[in-house]
Amino acid sequence: MKTSPQKATHKDQQPFVFLIGFMGAGKSAVASGLQKRLSIDRIEMDREIELGEGMTIPEIFSKKGQEYFRDLETGLLKSLETRNGCVVSCGGGAILRPENVRIMKALGRILWLTASPVTIWERVRFSDNRPLLKGRMDPESIRQMMEERRPAYERAADLIIDTDQKSVDQVVEEIIRMIE
Ligand code: S3P
Repeated sequence: MKTSPQKATHKDQQPFVFLIGFMGAGKSAVASGLQKRLSIDRIEMDREIELGEGMTIPEIFSKKGQEYFRDLETGLLKSLETRNGCVVSCGGGAILRPENVRIMKALGRILWLTASPVTIWERVRFSDNRPLLKGRMDPESIRQMMEERRPAYERAADLIIDTDQKSVDQVVEEIIRMIE
């Protein structure tokens, strides 16, 4: 991967690759593929937050609320400033705070994984660990939520990768061609 030194916060730090996108866009699977293919480290934001809090994401939302969770996302992103660059699978809402996007842009490149609402619904329909989809687990509600968030994803993204009808390996190879 080529590095862009002007984006690193100190001279020895490699840039990060941030995967953003709606729930079910494939961020975790693609991050895992990139980790193996490029032999780099991977950070799963949701997982790190769960470990730090000793609670699952639904528990954090129900016991502490969404704003508390968003503060944890910001705190985690800030903490990356002192870590080595790697691939980061972001929570689907991490781009909702402009501050978070500023941190990501300063540390590396932001790749937006997209998919149609029906594809997203097919991927997440049996999941019970996404509090924001509780009671909204249907293609129309997902489409509405995606539209509300579209401007934030557009503002954040350096590159856009459509994942519809593609395997994880295909998306990984596409990304490697784009960033090399
Ligand atoms: C969220 C997405 C989830 C998780 C939390 C909130 C969102 O991550 O961070 O439930 O606001 O879109 P995934 O995108 O990995 O499902």
